[in-house]
Amino acid sequence: MVTQEKLLHNISQIPQVNIGHFPTPLEECPRLSEALGGPHIYIKREDCSGLAIGGNKVRQLTFTIGDAVHQGADTIVHGAASQSNHCRQAAAACSKLGLKCYLRLARDHKSIVQGNLLLDHLAGADVEVVDIPFGPELEEYKLKFAEKLEADGLKPYVVTFPRSTALAAVAFTWCVAEIHEQQNQIGIDADWIYASSVGGTQAGLVLGTKALGMKLKTYACAPILWEGKIERICDAANSAADILNLDTRVIESDILNTDDYIGEAYGYLTPECIAALKLVASTEGILLDPVYTGKAMACLIDHIREGRLDSNDTVIFLHTGGTPALFAYNEELVEEHNI
Ligand SMILES: Cc1ncc(COP(=O)(O)O)c(C=O)c1O
Repeated sequence: MVTQEKLLHNISQIPQVNIGHFPTPLEECPRLSEALGGPHIYIKREDCSGLAIGGNKVRQLTFTIGDAVHQGADTIVHGAASQSNHCRQAAAACSKLGLKCYLRLARDHKSIVQGNLLLDHLAGADVEVVDIPFGPELEEYKLKFAEKLEADGLKPYVVTFPRSTALAAVAFTWCVAEIHEQQNQIGIDADWIYASSVGGTQAGLVLGTKALGMKLKTYACAPILWEGKIERICDAANSAADILNLDTRVIESDILNTDDYIGEAYGYLTPECIAALKLVASTEGILLDPVYTGKAMACLIDHIREGRLDSNDTVIFLHTGGTPALFAYNEELVEEHNI
């Protein structure tokens, strides 16, 4: 185990850039708790991380772009689904730091100039939607594309697995240290943290809470089916422990992650997600997103209704952002238009 000070000290030793607004708020949600008949719900507002509408990737990019700058890169190459929040936040971080940004995005059902894809263009990134599926093929394409940029004299850094996932886990141990401090300030000791993740976010939450010896247990809701996810999350957590010089080790049984709320596929709405989005917006004025946090909130609501959490429990919901994607789902979200 380590103290909060020691964890923060070790984090401060890792190359990083200053791109976000931290700490993000930890906000009590009494009207949401009441609507659900308990437990005490707090939302950790990673959607308020400052850069270009925020999200969990700002914290993560603090270290991935820190790594790139440390290696002397002048260009970032990234790519994922066409409404990727990660890519939008990377584009904005590059603008802020004066780096070039190339985004190669996989064509899918939401390749429309709205939401994140619109913001990628506004941030001045070089954007191309490619006919390559999101996954290992796209990762390979990004690496090949970077080789071409290198031949043209640029110094590219590719945001890809497994380094990016390990640095995301580093970032979320920092988020845990913030929560640890904020809990002490407001006098709570939460039982659970719920989040949407199938990677570094969960890895960092599990590593950070274990390293600090906290009661807080992590339950994550996957936004996408990912073969071998538990091993991948565990590896990311232990790589982060190595980077941070921590003795703590995460084992597979520490990783609680469900596929039950994905619905038809990644990026497709579910009725439960829409209901969760509307409930949180109408009780607390907090906007979730259609791809990640809406589904994670649907999971939390289900667990409360099933009695897995009761009114004496305290839960932190990690709002990982993603709100720009709402605008790419306008028709599915509000079926009856009466403008
Ligand atoms: C809004 C939002 N929430 C959650 C996640 C999941 O993060 P990860 O699976 O990388 O931990 C992402 C990733 O793209 C995201 O954009």
